[in-house]
Amino acid sequence: MTLRNAEVTGWGRYMPSLVVTNRDLVDFVDTSDEWIQSRTGIKQRHYSHVSTGEMGWLAAERALAAAGLSAADLDLVILGSTTPDDVCPNTASYIKNKLGASDAAAFDLNSACTSWFYGLTVATDMIKAGTIQRALVIGAERLSLAMDWNKRESCCLFGDGAGAVVVQSSSADVGLLSSKLSCVPDSRDYLRIPCWGIRPEVHTGGLHPSLDFDGAAIFKRAIVAMAKDCQQALGAAGMSLEDIDLFVPHQANIRIIEGLARRLNFPVEKTVICIDKYANTSAASMPIALYEALDSGRLKPGMTILMATFGAGLSSGAGVLRWGDRVGGEGVSDAAIPAYDQSVRELLSDSFSYHGVVCKSQSVGQ
Ligand code: ACO
Repeated sequence: MTLRNAEVTGWGRYMPSLVVTNRDLVDFVDTSDEWIQSRTGIKQRHYSHVSTGEMGWLAAERALAAAGLSAADLDLVILGSTTPDDVCPNTASYIKNKLGASDAAAFDLNSACTSWFYGLTVATDMIKAGTIQRALVIGAERLSLAMDWNKRESCCLFGDGAGAVVVQSSSADVGLLSSKLSCVPDSRDYLRIPCWGIRPEVHTGGLHPSLDFDGAAIFKRAIVAMAKDCQQALGAAGMSLEDIDLFVPHQANIRIIEGLARRLNFPVEKTVICIDKYANTSAASMPIALYEALDSGRLKPGMTILMATFGAGLSSGAGVLRWGDRVGGEGVSDAAIPAYDQSVRELLSDSFSYHGVVCKSQSVGQ
C-alpha cells in the first residue's frame, strides 16, 4: 500500500495594517508599556478594520499562490476561529466562495486558540484516509471586537490576524507525523466569552460580548497540559526532543513559552517567538508563527518541528510536523485589502462607547 501523508505546500498570512503599540493602549487602558512587556513579552498588536472572513480569505489566497494551486483544486476549506463573522452559515463557506473553490467543502472549527492546529489534524487525517487530496487550513481572528477595555488583565494581550496553510497528499515521509489533542477537565470557566452562542441573553440587543478570564489559572494549566501533549506526540512519532529542529508554540505569553521550554528541557533558542509583534492572535497564532519562521529563513527543508497549543476549554494539543523540501513559494498572490487610514480611536469608537472608555488624550482636549 502506498504511504499517504499530508504535506504543507503553501503558506500565507494577513496582518491588518493598523499597528497598536503598548504606548497607544495607555491612552485608553490603565496600563503601561513596562508592565505589558515584562509580564507578557508583547510590544504591539494589529487590529483589523475588516472581518474575520476577509482576513482569512487573503491569507488563503496567499497560501494557494505559494502552493502553486488554484482554488478549484481544493477539496476542503477549514476555518479555525473563535471569532467567526457568522455561525450560520459558517464563515468558511464565505471564504470558499470568495476564493472560487467551487468543489470544496467548507466548515468552521472552534476550539479557541487551538482551532487551527485541530483543523490541521483533521485535514491531515482526512488526507491520510484518502477522503480528500487537498485542503486549506486557515486560522483567523478578530479578537479586538471581543475586548472589554476596562479589563486590563486581558485586553492588552490579544491581536487580530490570519494565517493559512495548504496541505496536500504526498507519498513522502512529511507532514504531521503525530498529533495529540486534549481537554483539561473542569476548566471551562477560566476563559470564556459569555453570550457568544445561542442563549436567551444574546437576544437582548446591543450586546458586545467580551472575554473573561483567570490568567493565573490558565497559565499553570497551559504549561502542564502542553508539556504532557508534547511528550505524547513525540512518543507517538517515535521521537525524542533531540530529534526536534524547531519549536513552534501558540503565542499567548512569552513566560508561558519559556516555562514550557524549561519544563520540557528544550532550548528556547530553537523556539519561534513572535508574540512581541502580534500579541496573542488565538487560532491564527501558529500559522502566523510558521510563516514567520519561513520568512526569516529559520525553517529549513526537511526540518522536524514540534508544535504545542492551548486555549479556552481548556483545550490543548501538540504535534510533530516534518517539513518537505519547499521553503519558498511557487507564486505570489496580487490579492489585497486596502489599508486602514484612521486611528485606533476611530476603529474602536463603538466598542469604546459601549464600555464607557474615555481616551486620556480626549479628556485633555487633544
Ligand atoms: N497593566 C498593569 N497592571 C496590570 C495589568 C495591566 N495590563 N493587568 C494586570 N495588572 C496588575 C494586576 O491588577 C495585579 O495587580 P495587584 O498585584 O496590585 O493586584 C498585578 O498586575 C499582577 O497581576 P497578575 O495577574 O498576578 O499578573 P501575572 O504576572 O499573572 O500576568 C497574565 C497576568 C499576563 C494575564 C498571565 O497570567 C497570563 O499570561 N496568563 C495566561 C494568558 C492567557 O490566558 N492567555 C489566553 C490563553 S487562551 C487563548 O489564547 C484564547
